[in-house]
Amino acid sequence: MKKLLTLVLALGLVLSMVASASALTIAFSQIGQESDWRTANTDSVTAAIEGHEGWEFVYSDGQQKQENQIQALRNFITQGVDYILFTGVVTSGWDEVLTEVNEAEIPLILLDRIPDCADKIEYKAAFGGDFPLEGRRQVQWAGEYLKSLGRDTEDVNVVIMEGTTGADAQVGRTEGNLAALADYPFMKVVGQQTGNFTRAEGQALMESWLKSIDQIDVLIAQNDDMALGAIDAIKAAGKVPGEDIIIVGCDSVKAAFEAIVAGEMNCTVECNPLYGPFVVETIEALEAGETFDKTVVHPEEGVFDCVGGIEVEGTTSVKAADVIDERQY
Ligand code: AHR
Repeated sequence: MKKLLTLVLALGLVLSMVASASALTIAFSQIGQESDWRTANTDSVTAAIEGHEGWEFVYSDGQQKQENQIQALRNFITQGVDYILFTGVVTSGWDEVLTEVNEAEIPLILLDRIPDCADKIEYKAAFGGDFPLEGRRQVQWAGEYLKSLGRDTEDVNVVIMEGTTGADAQVGRTEGNLAALADYPFMKVVGQQTGNFTRAEGQALMESWLKSIDQIDVLIAQNDDMALGAIDAIKAAGKVPGEDIIIVGCDSVKAAFEAIVAGEMNCTVECNPLYGPFVVETIEALEAGETFDKTVVHPEEGVFDCVGGIEVEGTTSVKAADVIDERQY
């Protein structure tokens, strides 16, 4: 009897050690909820962590303000969380607080938008979109589509609707947009301004452009939400989106697929927000003693459009109507 009791106690001790070894508090400093992409991203990470046995999730919505995110990071340090997941609303200004995270020896995982101090700080892994490639693909798709319509012999007026100024996604996509335009000299930029990655600001910016610019042929919107807002403005101005103005978005959210299928939008370049599985695999690997280098891992991304078969860097577009039912977000 005594032996049995000892065995039960020992087993209980082992089980509680195993349980405490896997009990982790994982904190996420998110930017805000400016777009359908962001909602899908938050949902993916939340579901993955909350669905993992023994892991607790602490979430902070920065509401597009850097100072809120800095405060959240400091709160995570005070709480003594086990991991911090971080994406910054803008690229610069994180050196001090991320150094504090390093000094507190809390493992940091960078997601989505990578801060410009990444070289100077310690982090365990990084995962995010290849923003310059996405920007190049947007312009390449428009240029090749115009060529297929025989419109490369005329001047084509292009407006570039940028994301939040100073955000990694805006900086990278703008760099990509402008670099690719050099290969399509018939495409002339007649407007370039921020729509802050939101539907409301995309709509307002397009309204103002339609009043001040005589001829707009192509809209390159650095996310789908701004493109969808612009579509409302184009319709309100009595023009036909997708025909009078060719519209190329970015993200590949379901609403963009629906707009393409409805003939009101022409293309969306994918930026995959489903980071949950990466986060879980990475933390499990780190817990098992694996290490990763500082390379930013990019998810595989495609291009979806109204026609299919347009060649852009690294891929060929797929007709949105053929795959709309598979879209999760
Ligand atoms: O950083 C990713 C970008 O942020 C997405 O393209 C955009 O929709 C979001 O706001």
